[in-house]
Amino acid sequence: MAKSLRLVQFSDPHLFGTADGALRGVATLPALKATMAHAERYFRCPDALLLTGDLVQDDPGGYALLRATFESSKVPVYCLAGNHDVPEKMNATLQGAPFQVGGRFIDAGWLVVMLDTWKAKSTGGRLGKSQLSNLEATLAGHPDLHVLLCLHHHPVAMDSRWLDKVGLDDAAEFLALIARFPQVRGVLWGHVHQSLDRFLNGVRFMASPATCAQFLPRSADFALDWRPPGYRVLELLADGTIATEVVWVENTAP
Ligand SMILES: [Fe+2]
Repeated sequence: MAKSLRLVQFSDPHLFGTADGALRGVATLPALKATMAHAERYFRCPDALLLTGDLVQDDPGGYALLRATFESSKVPVYCLAGNHDVPEKMNATLQGAPFQVGGRFIDAGWLVVMLDTWKAKSTGGRLGKSQLSNLEATLAGHPDLHVLLCLHHHPVAMDSRWLDKVGLDDAAEFLALIARFPQVRGVLWGHVHQSLDRFLNGVRFMASPATCAQFLPRSADFALDWRPPGYRVLELLADGTIATEVVWVENTAP
């Protein structure tokens, strides 16, 4: 049987520079470690880990804790920045294996691209013209690979008034671009601290929960959800389909 690509996504850990830092009632480092421990029991032997932004809560000291938490990983740890990240410090701290910030990788007939939507002094995000044109060239150069695109900000509406004001500025350009490349099978993000799984024009659009506190889906105004920390597992199959599940880590709720 052809090999599949097995991924675990941990999003929005929001770490602080101290191990006891808490965000909205959740101590973020223990919550991240609880999700990692759960994934180790439940989804063994992934090929790579994906960290899709907000690795720290505006505190660059959190990167050292993140590094210490993942540096013994036997598989690559692919990272991208969210609005609460400090990209310069993130790049400086997460240097060398197992870490890779941004970029892309190819495995098992799949191309996975880590996009950067960080925008200075903004909760929302943007890809920008040069990254969109690089993505276009990458997709044009790999017509025979299935593609998963990862980013921090949501490129489709979450049906949540406050969140939809802080999504991806150039979502229309991004969606128009990927519509021209049928090998794009999935788009995956964090930022919204909740789960979404939607098919649009043959592409699977997936939002994933945070490894800490969650936001209430479809809420007009900011509201917390009582769901516990979560993570997503994905198996990218050789035929271009995606088997995926969001896992909620019970017993870690505040
Ligand atoms: Fe976040």
